[in-house]
Amino acid sequence: MDATDGMSVTKIGIIGVGNVGSMILEVLSNSENSGGYLFNIFNRSIDKIRKYESSESIKICSGVQDVYSSSDFTFVCVKPQQSAPVFADIRNVPQEHGIIVSTIAGKSLEELMNATEKAKVIRIMPTITAKISAGITAVGYSHSICEQEKKIFKNLLSPLGEIMDLEEEKFDAFTVLGSSGPAFVAFVLESFIDGAINIGVNPDYARNIVLKTFEGSINLLEHMSIEPSRLKYMVSSPGGVTIRGLYELEKDGVKGAIMSAIYEAYLKSKQL
Ligand SMILES: NC(=O)c1ccc[n+]([C@@H]2O[C@H](COP(=O)([O-])OP(=O)(O)OC[C@H]3O[C@@H](n4cnc5c(N)ncnc54)[C@H](OP(=O)(O)O)[C@@H]3O)[C@@H](O)[C@H]2O)c1
Repeated sequence: MDATDGMSVTKIGIIGVGNVGSMILEVLSNSENSGGYLFNIFNRSIDKIRKYESSESIKICSGVQDVYSSSDFTFVCVKPQQSAPVFADIRNVPQEHGIIVSTIAGKSLEELMNATEKAKVIRIMPTITAKISAGITAVGYSHSICEQEKKIFKNLLSPLGEIMDLEEEKFDAFTVLGSSGPAFVAFVLESFIDGAINIGVNPDYARNIVLKTFEGSINLLEHMSIEPSRLKYMVSSPGGVTIRGLYELEKDGVKGAIMSAIYEAYLKSKQL
């Protein structure tokens, strides 16, 4: 970190400015501390990042090595199958510079350290809901990251929502729940909306009613600190409308299908 005119500036590198890279860039550059950040970014297809050219706090770098050697924290946000050339470029930088932060699903800290030949590595598993500072981002550290560096890093990430330290062996399960989770939730929401349209509700009303019902249900569960099953019985009158719908869901094996989807996604995550 630089001290310029008495003010500390943190240099944040981002390699791969896709869904996750652009989310990290935009959330951090719009955060309260943004005045203390300078961003060094690089993406394979340069066209994608031209829109940031006019920003004073964002420098478009010439390549991976340029980002890594000029940043305090370098976020690597490429797909798992795109990571080998990025790691090779970092490996070819002889000196250890800042801390490497990988968002890549399925790449362990050990694999990251071996591939980059660098000791200071952090692994994070973000969620797309961090765009609005919601949801949980899991974090794991290599042994060389000291307590002070952990503190600085968690503070840096705080605009992304809740930050949770996580043991490495739990990252695959977390990936399914925290990172794939929004897609599963979107699928369930879509099923409710389609169901509403099927019984004659206008799509715009259907979307609003479904979103508000999910939001209200989650808030109530949190407010009352109760399990979902308790809420289920609070709404089900004997022989009534709700239990009839729940009977259909059970009969058609919806719970089993969801549990199975989570299990299969978990196995896939372990294979990455
Ligand atoms: N999406 C999520 O919700 C989510 C959540 C948690 C973790 N993750 C993890 O985050 C990583 C990124 O996911 P994503 O959804 O952001 O993928 P994405 O949208 O495909 O973004 C990847 C970006 O990396 C760029 N890239 C590829 N190779 C590069 C290279 N050699 N140098 C520089 N840039 C390069 C790509 O550029 P081009 O424009 O040339 O393709 C693309 O813009 C993945 O490993 C994924 O496992 C994703």
